[in-house]
Amino acid sequence: MKNQVVLGIDIGGSGIKGAPVDISTGEFLAERHRIETPIPATPEAIAQVIKQLAEHFNWTGSIGCGFPAVVQNGLVYTASNIDAAWININAKKLFSKVTGLKVTVINDADAAGLAEMKFGAGKKNKDFVLIITVGTGIGTAIFTRRKLLPNTELGHIQLHGDSAERYASDAARKKDELEWESWAGRFNEYLAALEKLFYPDLIILGGGLSKKPEKFLHLLTPRTPIVTARLQNNAGIVGAALAVK
Ligand code: BGC
Repeated sequence: MKNQVVLGIDIGGSGIKGAPVDISTGEFLAERHRIETPIPATPEAIAQVIKQLAEHFNWTGSIGCGFPAVVQNGLVYTASNIDAAWININAKKLFSKVTGLKVTVINDADAAGLAEMKFGAGKKNKDFVLIITVGTGIGTAIFTRRKLLPNTELGHIQLHGDSAERYASDAARKKDELEWESWAGRFNEYLAALEKLFYPDLIILGGGLSKKPEKFLHLLTPRTPIVTARLQNNAGIVGAALAVK
């Protein structure tokens, strides 16, 4: 039987956030706790933060983690915005070892997608939903007939000769000190490139940016209907909890 309450943890480029989640409602059962992502964000350093979060909540149950890379069966394959030492590390085994608890690890955008499909903006959609998380990087999750196609990496399609996330992420907006209009212009280019390849029925924008839709949503011009994540930035925590089987 599934655990009813799971500690969901969202591992991000600037913060690692966790909360106990009731997976039947998506609600937090305690206030979420955030710890700065250590620099450098090595496997050992992040594992210690996971342990600290478990201790903070006196946790003895299962843990679900959303991780900002390709993760297959717990094994990390890529490291675009994390320390290169992560490649080929089994995050599931490492986090289970340091916490002594059962840990599941999935891609962070896939986690956000699971939460939005179950409790948020994708709740009623049966067809093709594309979730795009915009933060330090750009992450994607694809659902067809409510089923996840795991580990899609559409933040890395090429735009102007580089990964699209370097041009259109929230980190790129901050780094290049872009006004919202200029950033939206870049993001529209990204959306247009995606829409040459895919025909989703709905696009859900998540990640750090989804907290302030009033700044940019009206500036975006995709062909596809577009909304921001209903669970906003908490989708990553809720979805990480949902990933626990
Ligand atoms: C990574 C993805 C991740 C996304 C958002 C990208 O750089 O390649 O795996 O989902 O950032 O964190």
